Amino acid sequence: MSQISWEATFLLENEPCVYVDRIATRPEYRGRGVGRALYSELFSHYRCHTILAGIAESPFRNDASIRFHEHLGFRRVGTYRAAQFAGIRNYVGGIFQRAAQQFAGADA
Ligand SMILES: CC(C)(COP(=O)(O)OP(=O)(O)OC[C@H]1O[C@@H](n2cnc3c(N)ncnc32)[C@H](O)[C@@H]1OP(=O)(O)O)[C@@H](O)C(=O)NCCC(=O)NCCS
Repeated sequence: MSQISWEATFLLENEPCVYVDRIATRPEYRGRGVGRALYSELFSHYRCHTILAGIAESPFRNDASIRFHEHLGFRRVGTYRAAQFAGIRNYVGGIFQRAAQQFAGADA
């Protein structure tokens, strides 16, 4: 069994959460608001939930995704480590958080 550890600066006990493992849009539609629209839809359905997103940091650091998520108001709150994840050995990902209600009030 793969070894997984999760470190976060906050407690998730009794808190409703949605975890987005990966968001992706077709290459030919990138930069046209599809990613924002997907999150907008998710947040409008889960208004009282904390939204978490996992983003690769090692062995490959997904800077474009980090910038996209930070632009939408996500902030890094933790680290996910797994000996094996999606076929990648010694995977490290950042856990990013945004409260849905923050987004609902924003210009989505
Ligand atoms: C990351 C991804 C989902 C973004 O989707 P998208 O449809 O291109 O994003 P949008 O066009 O909706 O962009 C929404 C906002 O984020 C900004 N943004 C998007 N990518 C950005 C980047 N790399 N850096 C900074 N800002 C970015 C846009 O400028 C836009 O800002 P605005 O709405 O204020 O004008 C898409 O690029 C993708 O599929 N990437 C490959 C797969 C991947 O790495 N997914 C993440 C796995 S965790």
